[in-house]
Amino acid sequence: MGPRDRQKKEAARAALGEVPKGCWLGVGTGSTTNHFIRLLPKRWVRGAVASSVATAQALKRRGIRVVPMMPARRLAVYVDGADEADSGLRLIKGGGGALTREKIVATASRRFICIADGSKLVKRLGRHPVPLEVVPMAREQVAARVRKLGGRPVWRKGFVTDNGGEILDVHGLRITDPAGLEKKLEAIPGVVCAGIFGKRKADLLLLGMPAGVRRVRAGSKTR
Ligand code: 5RP
Repeated sequence: MGPRDRQKKEAARAALGEVPKGCWLGVGTGSTTNHFIRLLPKRWVRGAVASSVATAQALKRRGIRVVPMMPARRLAVYVDGADEADSGLRLIKGGGGALTREKIVATASRRFICIADGSKLVKRLGRHPVPLEVVPMAREQVAARVRKLGGRPVWRKGFVTDNGGEILDVHGLRITDPAGLEKKLEAIPGVVCAGIFGKRKADLLLLGMPAGVRRVRAGSKTR
């Protein structure tokens, strides 16, 4: 296991302490979340809502009960990784293409714990492209609108989401107002979801660092 992977694992381990025994849990998608699933004791939670087919399979393999989506706020905690996070706990997500279900589950959960290796913390979001899930027939139309906003859309060729959508990875966007840009992107007809989590931010960011896990809450100082 390389150093970044070790940091992901330590962040995932720290997240276990944030999950109350017997709760309903939301679980994200990706390599950091996979560490979390492997570390989650079998009978710790009542059941879990998965943000992707891959996560549902991983949870079942671990012996954890997977349940369908439930009404908002019944999920105590949502645990997921990110492609980028800023000190305001706003995120770019969707590197794994599961952004739509991730946003649905995150929004329905009372707390969102984001777990990542230290390299994911940035001063300003936008080094990582912003993934957009789009309805396939609208791909070119969405791409044209995104170019007008200053972005360079790149189609994730051959990739189909769990919802039958396609992904446009938008490079070069200047993200000064994450929630504002998220709203603009999601207002384009054919965009199912934008991978900016500016409105539903994380409540706590657990960052694996060489010296241990750093806890970042909104408003806390970052170096
Ligand atoms: C999947 C995601 C992931 O959380 C994000 O891509 C981070 O992945 P990893 O934990 O593998 O670094 O948003 O859609």
